[in-house]
Amino acid sequence: MQQTLANKRILLGVSGGIAAYKSADLVRRLSERGAEVRVILTDSGQHFITPLTLQAVSGNPVSTSLLDPSAEAAMGHIELAKWANIFIIAPATANVIAKLAQGMADDLLTTCVLATTAELFIAPAMNQQMYKNIATQKNIATLNEHNFHIIGPAAGEQACGDVGLGRMEEPLQIVAAIEQFVAAKPDSHLSWQGISIAITAGPTREAIDPVRYISNHSSGKMGFALAAAAAQLGADVTLIAGPTLLTTPAGVKRIDVISAEQMHQAALTAAQNSAIFIGCAAVADYRMAEVAAEKLKKTSDAELILKMVKNPDIIASVAALSQHRPFTVGFAAETHNLIDYAKAKLSSKKLDMICANDVSDPNQGFNSEHNAVTLIWPQGQLALPAQAKSALAQQILQHVLQQFQLVAKI
Ligand code: PMT
Repeated sequence: MQQTLANKRILLGVSGGIAAYKSADLVRRLSERGAEVRVILTDSGQHFITPLTLQAVSGNPVSTSLLDPSAEAAMGHIELAKWANIFIIAPATANVIAKLAQGMADDLLTTCVLATTAELFIAPAMNQQMYKNIATQKNIATLNEHNFHIIGPAAGEQACGDVGLGRMEEPLQIVAAIEQFVAAKPDSHLSWQGISIAITAGPTREAIDPVRYISNHSSGKMGFALAAAAAQLGADVTLIAGPTLLTTPAGVKRIDVISAEQMHQAALTAAQNSAIFIGCAAVADYRMAEVAAEKLKKTSDAELILKMVKNPDIIASVAALSQHRPFTVGFAAETHNLIDYAKAKLSSKKLDMICANDVSDPNQGFNSEHNAVTLIWPQGQLALPAQAKSALAQQILQHVLQQFQLVAKI
């Protein structure tokens, strides 16, 4: 087994959900990749898994209480919090997530979270309705703002019989997210400060007549999440937005457009002043050959045939710039043959990277809060699991920056 987590000190917090039974496997997977793992098990966690099991797999005593003098004598809670360089809470129940979002410290787990400088990860696990609840969503958004990395949850059948988002990600998926983070970490000193990025987002609308248009289901959420994350990281962000009701993220320069032709103009100008360009917009491939000046009237004909012509391919024009060409990243929204079609677009549009986006799953992609993509670039590919678009945006940007630095030899 490759020692991808060698020298990593991982503190695993296990709270009280049925998924706690997977925590022993998670400890084993982390340990076999070279990590030293210590476990904090909450009172409710002990209803689902015993300290003895977790001690056996981790090879270390398991901490269960803030008020246990013998445990405190061995390794006090502050020492434990300082010991870790990675802190994962898996499963993270709705209750623990709520407490963390409030900054509470009423047990060993929450106290250690407040006292640590480790990178924080949570793998939410709960009933799908609890996960959908606005309070939980707000709490997760708060943790996201507080730089927690959110892994999952996954969708599927739940222990209670419900079906939906809320299952804890599988241990191997959690390990993959940690490995990706660790692999990217050596470059994390490379910063977005001073880097200009242009991002397209949302749909375009192609007018048929003064009152009708052709468009698609893009909400703009993915592109806006990328813009918000890039601005938070210190980049100089221009967001070219198709029609959407979303508010402009803090620190972002926004240019509103309606049609693909307008987006094309705005994107070419912004791209030439940017080091990086991300085309996240769902651009209409065709527009009306002629837009009717007046509202089309219904006729007695059973059919209406509209003549359409091809729109410019915005991202291909950006990638073809002979001067001031930015590092160019596209998206490929596909319902089937995801990777093959995405690779074909990477090559035909001459992009530096593409985010293959499976839009056949109604739980992700168009107009959803969640998304999952596989990043593909000429020398490799990497799957980023389903998660909130805000969290996914951070991961995408981390890998975009890495590849950009490699290509630009910065
Ligand atoms: O907006 P959301 O509701 O959050 O949904 C997000 C999303 C699903 C729209 C987004 O994640 C996504 O996948 N965006 C790309 C959608 C798309 O149109 O994909 P495509 O495979 O048709 O296009 C491939 C690439 O070419 C894209 O980068 C697209 O922006 C670009 N393109 C396409 C046509 C065109 N005329 N000009 C372009 O630049």
